[in-house]
Amino acid sequence: MSGLPDPPALGASALPAGTFKDEVVIVTGGGTGLGKAIAVEFARLGASVAIVSRDEGHRKAGVEAVEQAGGKAFATACDIRDAEQVKATFDAVEDALGLAGTLVNNAAGNFPVPAEDLSPNGWRAVTQIVMDGTFFCSREFGRRHIAAKTPGSIVNIGASYAWTGGPGFAHSSAAKAAVKNMTETLAVEWAPYGIRVNCLVPGLFPHEDEAAHIKGVSERGEGEDQRQPAGRVGAPRELGWAATFLSSPYAAYITGATLTVDGANWQRRHMLMPEFRPIREQLGKEPFTG
Ligand code: HXC
Ligand code: NAP
Repeated sequence: MSGLPDPPALGASALPAGTFKDEVVIVTGGGTGLGKAIAVEFARLGASVAIVSRDEGHRKAGVEAVEQAGGKAFATACDIRDAEQVKATFDAVEDALGLAGTLVNNAAGNFPVPAEDLSPNGWRAVTQIVMDGTFFCSREFGRRHIAAKTPGSIVNIGASYAWTGGPGFAHSSAAKAAVKNMTETLAVEWAPYGIRVNCLVPGLFPHEDEAAHIKGVSERGEGEDQRQPAGRVGAPRELGWAATFLSSPYAAYITGATLTVDGANWQRRHMLMPEFRPIREQLGKEPFTG
């Protein structure tokens, strides 16, 4: 069995050249991993791309990748948990490049932890990045377009444990559920203004920038292709192609949708489920003592 075919090579595009010519795109967390891959695909199609994140080194990597793909890049520091910083960031992007027509809410924070070990601060750190940050950026984007009477597109990056639950990731899965729900609400509220809001859900997409605490999950990196019904993991460019399609004029009637790009991994079931292992055991944690 050969599984699902490999995607076209990096550099290929399903959309016409120049689809995003004269367009500005903001990618939060666009300096690493999937955000960087998405930024690159927009740049390849003519967009100017603003990379928004906390770490200067990350932003520099995003700018280099966008420029290498032939795009104009701008970077600005922002912690998306802070609505004032988000406002200042949108002002800076508008001054440098013009009003962004697309916002990709890609930034996220996450770490595996049994729920009983998760501190209130740890819960807040993740939910505020994923849920609050996505709303603050969306709100800033929506208000500017409503005032300017211009259309726009928001692509939220989700996760399938939003609807399955995510043992070991209580904070992130709850926050991603909020992101999916927010997509559906904002799509209805803002369709009259010409603003589309969709959610793009990656399956397993390993990449070189993965945070140590994600990469370090036991058995990560071992036989990952064989763990997928597709026989392979995702290639970051595949997510970039999906994001550019969702923001393109060819998706003008698509809003409020969640597009899952995971080779059907979230639907998989065993006829006989493997032996159940509690999350503490999976994460190699000692028994909880309070
Ligand atoms: C337990 C942890 C922890 C860990 C942090 N905390 N890491 N608790 N296990 N590994 C706790 C801290 O002890 C602290 O609580 C609180 O969380 C805040 O920690 P800070 O380090 O002060 O937070 P901050 O600097 O704001 O960093 C946010 C972060 C960090 C989320 C904790 O990891 C981060 O910046 N991540 C960005 C990159 C990332 O995580 N990418 C993953 C996206 S991948 P106390 O109580 O001690 O004060 C993804 C994949 C989904 O989402 C699908 C996976 C299957
Ligand atoms: P990643 O490389 O760790 O990227 C996370 C990005 O978010 C970083 O660039 C980080 O930049 C930025 N960020 C984090 N906190 C921020 C904050 N408070 N303010 C501004 N920026 C912040 O992760 P990834 O794997 O590419 O994930 C990208 C998206 O895909 C996330 O939404 C994730 O949940 C989703 N996803 C990924 C996978 C996968 O297999 N990789 C699977 C399912 C879903 P700074 O550190 O510079 O701030």
